[in-house]
This record gives sequence, C-alpha cells and structure tokens, in this order.
Amino acid sequence: MSSTTPVSSPSYIDRLQDFVSENRRAILIGAAAAAVAVGGVVYYASSSRSGPGDAEQGRKKKHSKKRKTTKDSDGPILEERKPKVSEVPQDERLSAEQIAVMPNDERSKVAAELKTKGNSLYQKRQFQQAIDLYTQAIEVSPKPEPVYYSNRAACYMNMTPPKLENVVGDCDEALKLDKNYVKALNRRGNALEGLLKYEEALRDFTAATILDKFQNESAAQSVERVLKKLSSEKAAAILSTREPRLPSFTFISAYFAAFRQRPLPVLPETPSTGDNTLILALEALAAADYTHSVTLVNAAIEQGISWDVGRAEALNLRGTFKFLMGDVSGAKDDLYESIKIVPSFTQSWVKIASVHMEQGDNTKAFECFEEAIKHNPDDPDIYYHRGQVLFITNEFTQAAENYTKSTELDDQFVFSHIQLAVAQYKLGNIANSMATFRRTLTAFPQRSEPQNYYGELLLDQQRYQDAVDKFDRAVELERAKPPPMNVLSLVNKGLALYQWKQDIGAAERCCTEALRIDPECEPAVATLAQLSLQQSRIDRAIEMFARQAELARSELELINALTYQYASAAQLEFLNNYPAMAQQLTQLARGMV
Ligand SMILES: *[C@@H]1O[C@H](CO)[C@@H](O)[C@H](O)[C@H]1NC(C)=O
Ligand SMILES: *[C@@H]1O[C@H](CO)[C@@H](O)[C@H](O)[C@H]1NC(C)=O
Repeated sequence: MSSTTPVSSPSYIDRLQDFVSENRRAILIGAAAAAVAVGGVVYYASSSRSGPGDAEQGRKKKHSKKRKTTKDSDGPILEERKPKVSEVPQDERLSAEQIAVMPNDERSKVAAELKTKGNSLYQKRQFQQAIDLYTQAIEVSPKPEPVYYSNRAACYMNMTPPKLENVVGDCDEALKLDKNYVKALNRRGNALEGLLKYEEALRDFTAATILDKFQNESAAQSVERVLKKLSSEKAAAILSTREPRLPSFTFISAYFAAFRQRPLPVLPETPSTGDNTLILALEALAAADYTHSVTLVNAAIEQGISWDVGRAEALNLRGTFKFLMGDVSGAKDDLYESIKIVPSFTQSWVKIASVHMEQGDNTKAFECFEEAIKHNPDDPDIYYHRGQVLFITNEFTQAAENYTKSTELDDQFVFSHIQLAVAQYKLGNIANSMATFRRTLTAFPQRSEPQNYYGELLLDQQRYQDAVDKFDRAVELERAKPPPMNVLSLVNKGLALYQWKQDIGAAERCCTEALRIDPECEPAVATLAQLSLQQSRIDRAIEMFARQAELARSELELINALTYQYASAAQLEFLNNYPAMAQQLTQLARGMV
C-alpha cells in the first residue's frame, strides 16, 4: 500500500493483494486451469503444496539429473528407446530409389538405426553430423516419427550460434504428430524465448507444465520467467505511448481526503487573469472536479500568477496532480519550487515526504517532517502524515503517538481517529482499537469512512454480520451525499459476502454496481477478475485483468496486471487446444486437495 491513501491498512487493497498473492504461483503456472477444469477453488489448496520448500527440492532433483555434455540438458539421448547396434555405415547414404524398393519394416529399422547413430554423435557434440543422420532417418522412415524431428531440433538448439528458427520448425513437425510431446514443447518454448517471441513461448511452457502435471519445477520456472519478460516488455510499450492521466475518482478522492480543507488564498487587490484561474482551479478541487482542476491549474501557471502565496499554491497543486499521474520526479520539482517560494508551506513538505517514500528514501521523508515542524510545530497535518509513514514502515507505536498528537491539535479530522484505531489494532490492542472506533462513530455520525474501516477490522476478525452491517451503513451514508460517490464500501461488502457465505453472485453484484458508479474503481475490477477465475470463467477474468492493466497507475501495478492477464490467456489457450485434458485435469486438481 502506498503512502497516497488516507487509511493504510488493513485496507481493502492489502487484503485483496493477499488474496491474490497467496495464489499467485498457482495462478501463474497453470494450476488455475486445473482448478477451472474442476470448476472450483481448488488452486488454493494446490498452491499451499508447492511452497518454497518443494521448489527447492524440485531444483535439487533437476540438478542431480543435469547433463554436463550439452547445453540442452535433456538431449535426444534421453529419448532413445533402445539403443541398437548400428549396421548402417555412416557414409553410405541411401538414395531415393533404394528407399523406394525397401519393405516398410526394413525402412523403419534402418531409420531407427540412423537415429541411434545420430544420438551418439549428438553426445559427442557433433551436431552437424547428427543433424544429417536424423534427416536421413526422416527420409527413410515409412511414417513420420516425432522423435526424429525433436532430436534434430535439439541439435539445432545446441549449435553455436543456435539455429532457433530450425528448432521451431522441427518442433512444429514433432508436435503436429504428437501434441502431447512435452520435450518438444519445452524445446520449442526455449527457442521461441530466444527469438523473443514471448507470447508463443509462454503458450508452450504452460502446456508443458500442465501436461507434466506440474512435476517439472524448471518448466514452471520457465513459465514465470517468460511471463515476467512478456509483461515487462508489454508494460514498457504501453507506457511509452500512454498519455499521462489521472487515476480513478475513488483513488484521487481518497488521496485528497487525507488533507484538511484549507480556506482559499486571499487574492491580491488587482488580481491577474492567472490569479483568478488559480481560484477556479482550487474551487474545482473543492468540488471534487479533478479533471477541471488539472486543466485550470495548468492554465493559471501559464497565464502567470502575480503573488507568492498564489504561485506556491499553484505549484503545490500541479505537483500533486503530477504525483497522482505517476510523474514522480516532475511532482518533486514543483513541490520543491513551491517550498522555495513559501518555506513554511506544510502541505508541500508533507507531499515531498510522500514523494521520497515512493522513491524508497525513508530518511529523506522524515527530514521533511522535521523541517515542516520547525516552521509550524502545531500543524496537525504534519503529525498525521508522519504517522502514515511510520505506519507503512510498521512502526505502529510511534505512528499511534503521532496520530494522537494530531487529534490533540485538531480533533475534527476523521482520518487521524481512524488511523489511530487501526494502529492500535495492529499493535494487538483490540479492545482499545474497538473503543476508539466506537468513539469515532459517535463523533462523526455522518461520515462513511469510520463505518467502512471499522467494517474492515470486523471482517478481519471474521465477524461477518457486523462487518456487513457497517459496510451497508457506509454505503447508505455515501448515497445520501451529493455525488460522486466513494464506492469502496460496496466492494468491501462484496468481499465480505464472498468470504462469509461464498456467495459469488452477491459479491459480483456489489462489484458490478460499484463499477457502474465509478467505472474506474480498481479494487472492483481486481475483485471481479478473481471471482471470475473462481467460477471457471477464464475469458472474463482475462477481460478484467486487461481492464486492471488499463487502470494501473504505476509500472509495477501494470506489470502485475499484465502478468495475470497473460498467464490466464495462456491457460485458456491450453484448455482450448487440449480439450481432452479437461478430464485428467479434473482428477489432477482433485488430487491436489
Ligand atoms: C523440464 O523443463 C525444462 C525447462 O522447460 C526442460 O528443458 C526439461 O526437458 C524438462 N524436463 C523433463 C524431464 O521433461
Ligand atoms: C512521532 O514519530 C517520531 C518519529 O518519526 C517520534 O520521534 C515521535 O516521538 C513520535 N511522537 C510524536 C508525538 O511526535
């Protein structure tokens, strides 16, 4: 959870991420497809079985088997059925006429012998000669044998430099003859990866992993490795062409809610056009009309602002929007610029701190708070935001102290109370936490947030009915307000109903309703994607993951969403290409429970 949300944890996103990451490996390597074949939630169970310990074991097993002689550790030699004595002299190549007059069983026998010779040349790393023998085997053999093509592919793979196109061509032939040929799938996957054709490589590694019943740890690792390359590549392409834009309303309003409302700055006696535009920008912000506010503040700065306080305000606002649009360094420049003009500008200090946090520099972040305190020791915002940073870094005791200090300075800001309660919860002071929440509910009867976050803690304690009641009340309060509505409680209610009663239909209705109100509500999309997987609806899950990618704010979020999208797509393709596997997958998934 980033420092940009008013309430850090245990928030919806945190739990959703757990929900996903617990199953991450299983979803990625294809066990989800197995579960889908059963039509249930089996991959939960399966994921817990392939913990890091198992992976380690898998690797060890692999290493002990590894051959040192060739780059392709599972060379053709492993595919040889029964090595036979060679009778065909190496340089005696059969002509087409000679082959034509041979009976079929003789031809098969000669072909097999050619292959055996090829295998031993492969072992001696004489790849070109081995290729020649496999080619003869293919010519002599009365019917095409997948192993000849696959073995020749292994030779191409091991040449320096490898002939990757030929590997793909031969594996295509082998797989046309036997689409369950796992070795050829792995081999083609490796070649395609070398050719940077990641989507196709992923298709092959996914199929190989599932066909091998998830027993080949190194194939599973190949899936993850290729997914990572594929998603990073696609993410970079998307980001290079994407216009910077604001995140969802839910996200922005949560961000701005973390700051106390301040009065508008006082205009100079004869305001310039830019000065007036700035006031309009701040008014749009107050009205939660963020799109207009961005346009107006940019215009104001362009038109020119005539007084210092106004310029600092404008730079603060523009910097904030840049931050929200993911332009962290641009944000930093604007915010520092505003501090230069008005060194006591608390809001700018606090926001610079979150920029440093986003860049992973905690020390600098804390220095900003110290600096802000020097100018305004009694500004409650400073302590609240320092509490946030401490919370994120798991310093709950100090965080609680800072929230308390903030409420002592101003007890009208609802989030300091909520965060105090959540910090107490994290410290294990459940009774205190609940008491703080109940006090907050009484003190802010018209605010939805205490209801929502209290509901989250109740949900965490598996007090489902109480949690749902709180979410319902939060939704009711939100609906009573003038729009736009914050839909987080609606999504939370859906998740609660799912966890409580496994009521997928109800959970989906909540998320769909949330999306109707705020089409860009990321948690709603993420939840729908997971719920779709639960219902064996991979196609819709893919659609939702794609939507999640569209909404992603940072490169990391984008890569994450794309990873799930491509993993699911590859598994769907597998189920389409191997319909006969569904039956076996069902048994496999059942066995995993
Ligand atoms: C396991 O997967 C790796 C990597 O994809 C592959 O090279 C290897 O041949 C596979 N092992 C077996 C026994 O199929
Ligand atoms: C707030 O956090 C800081 C650590 O950054 C700590 O030194 C301080 O004691 C805490 N409490 C108050 C009331 O500021």
